[in-house]
Amino acid sequence: TRNIRPLVAGNWKMNGLKADLAIAVEVAKGYDTALKAAVDLAVCPPATLLYTTTAALIGSRIATGGQDCSSNAGGAFTGEVSAAMLADSGAHFAIVGHSERRTLHSETNAIVKAKAQAARAALLVPIICVGETRDEREAGKALASVKKQLRGSVPEDSTAASLVIAYEPVWAIGTGLTPTAADVAEMHEAIRTELGRLLGKGAAAGVRLLYGGSVKPSNAAELMNVAHVDGALVGGASLKAEDFLAIARAC
Ligand code: G3P
Repeated sequence: TRNIRPLVAGNWKMNGLKADLAIAVEVAKGYDTALKAAVDLAVCPPATLLYTTTAALIGSRIATGGQDCSSNAGGAFTGEVSAAMLADSGAHFAIVGHSERRTLHSETNAIVKAKAQAARAALLVPIICVGETRDEREAGKALASVKKQLRGSVPEDSTAASLVIAYEPVWAIGTGLTPTAADVAEMHEAIRTELGRLLGKGAAAGVRLLYGGSVKPSNAAELMNVAHVDGALVGGASLKAEDFLAIARAC
């Protein structure tokens, strides 16, 4: 039994050309009455496909999201995409602070927080990603590392409706490795508690906490049944409509 409606979001990363709109259309076809009653879905294609994906999903009740946004509102920032541009393209969500951004683009907690604030200013819901590295996990510092990321990157005035957290252990992303259900349970409970300190218990109780990192149809049921797991952020498996829908059904 859940008191939070789960969300399964697909992060296509730097994959997707026009022809791949067919994936989103296929997902919409499979989002039947039973699934609609149980779970929210979102597709986060590359920015170039955001407008056309949103258009292709009209009437499906499937949301779209961007994979990143600038912390700036606009101006001389060549190559950047603002939160308002994502919203104008039909996005409802903006993923911020994905580990690939934190690592490959040196995004600090402060930058991630500014991006989350920019997303909210454009009336988008930020999906803030957090997660420990393998070294941190092995040193027994996973909880401390994730709590620090939360304290540094979650806007203090976030409400349950204006925030989604995705816990993505860095070592589980794209590797086929996943934490044990017990480790996920411990982490998600710690995240809920830390959010309670930051936002107040009432708000924290309603924030959707997604798990991400090598989620696939074969492990989704186990991961989605963990307490305080309110859905999934899916990378590789979101590029196959059938797999993405199977994960959604596991909620
Ligand atoms: O944001 C989702 C992602 O990082 C997980 O990727 O391919 O392990 O599902 P993947």
